[in-house]
Amino acid sequence: MRIQIINGPNLNLLGVREPEIYGKKAWADYLKDLRTRFPQVRIDYYQSNLEGEIINKIQEVGFDRDGIVLNAGAYTHTSVAILDALKSVSTPAVEVHISNVHQREEFRRKSLISPGCLGVICGFGLDSYRLAIEALIDKASCESEE
Ligand code: DQA
Repeated sequence: MRIQIINGPNLNLLGVREPEIYGKKAWADYLKDLRTRFPQVRIDYYQSNLEGEIINKIQEVGFDRDGIVLNAGAYTHTSVAILDALKSVSTPAVEVHISNVHQREEFRRKSLISPGCLGVICGFGLDSYRLAIEALIDKASCESEE
């Protein structure tokens, strides 16, 4: 199984950026933990601060991975183009957020990309990514039983 994690703008600063919201753990350490936890899954990782690069990555991986875990950061709330990219590919995507966006400012409560995703996980800190991977693994194993 092969899963692509895509992190959007400012998520390269995890561990440093607003630690009271996003935590103190560096992403590289968390990614290592994830890969150890799911030895049966090849977890590819990509981060970009640029909307078009995120779209290019979705198009590049969107027909041959088993799942995409996407934290589009602030583009979640603004990007019709990322929604369209998700709808254009066949790989299922799970939208994740580290923080509980519904407990924050009003503008974070609206996601433009959710309609292009299988589901949404938010508010569990970095553990949101693990939960998304579990969901994709479960979905793949249900489909292989059908
Ligand atoms: C975020 C929530 C977004 O509103 C914000 O712009 C981010 C991170 C999260 O993971 O909680 O950059 O996606």
